Amino acid sequence: MKNNSIDEAAQIIKNGGLVAFPTETVYGLGANALNPFAVAKIFELKERPTFDPLIVHIASFDDLKTLSTDVSENVMRLVKHFWPGPLTIVLPKSSIVPDIVSSGLDTVGIRMPNNPIALDLIRKSNCPIAAPSANKFGQLSPVNASHVKKQLPDVDYILDGGNTSVGIESTIVSIEGDTCQLLRPGFITLEDIENALPNTFVFNNSKPGKLVSPGLLKSHYSPKKPLYILNDSIRNLPEYSGLILHGGNNSLYTAQKVIYTSQTFNKIEITANLFASLHEMEEDESVKTIYIEPVEEKGLGIAIMDRVKKAAYQYNNSSN
Ligand code: TXA
Ligand code: MG
Repeated sequence: MKNNSIDEAAQIIKNGGLVAFPTETVYGLGANALNPFAVAKIFELKERPTFDPLIVHIASFDDLKTLSTDVSENVMRLVKHFWPGPLTIVLPKSSIVPDIVSSGLDTVGIRMPNNPIALDLIRKSNCPIAAPSANKFGQLSPVNASHVKKQLPDVDYILDGGNTSVGIESTIVSIEGDTCQLLRPGFITLEDIENALPNTFVFNNSKPGKLVSPGLLKSHYSPKKPLYILNDSIRNLPEYSGLILHGGNNSLYTAQKVIYTSQTFNKIEITANLFASLHEMEEDESVKTIYIEPVEEKGLGIAIMDRVKKAAYQYNNSSN
């Protein structure tokens, strides 16, 4: 079902149902974060393993102190700087957060999304909203309402807010004292965080292959077709190939279909169009195999290549 009444959607959340809603990053599949039975339905509908904890979405700074027992000065500095926005902070959880939300951990990931529909939904539901991305576990993240409908046709309600602006999931950090770990790269880069926390040691603990946070698996975000990252040893593409470029030269390859996420390697454009381009290739029946151009792993390029490598993992690492 797809509709656009935030009041109706809020009523569904209050009654323990599930609502897919837009954020600035990707669409979320939301439930009342304080109702473990409602949260359990998220895992069921997504077919998500319960070891993978959920992010809790809030609309007011006061909720931070209700959900966490330790909101330090550094945390306040980050939230004042980046919220509402694509930054999730992992904090010690208070006892009101049900264990199913945090997969039994004593921490909880919290963020305030920068999307008016999301914020209005949280306020009208009168509770924090636990929400993973609104896709089946392991598949492509949704960046518009039709992507949600494709993967989760049985969701109680879909709030349609058009295409999301950022296009990939939030950056996730955890903070302990004077140390801040990056657990998942995202639109907010390591450099952005270093600039906001000048007296803190900020380090990237999200290197491929390292499982620092449950749910951050090597293979994730995958289309239902083979996906390969272009490299110099690939000279010719097989028949029925889809080619995703970010500004590179189209004439080097012959492909069935070409999509440009950007004409000029603009990383903000690439990020915004990344999942949409993969969905389009997944949906196009004339495309059998997808090839994607890599980008330089610097700044926002780190988050882009994190998603690309995970999406392509099973086809580029045949030993696993
Ligand atoms: O942009 C986003 O973050 C989107 C929108 C909907 O807000 N949400 C999202 O959720 O990407 P999801 O469930 O697809 O990814 C959440 C990830 C988990 O897989 C886990 O790795 C990490 O967040 N996470 C959540 N709680 C955590 C915790 N307490 N400790 C460590 N990692 C945590
Ligand atoms: Mg996800």
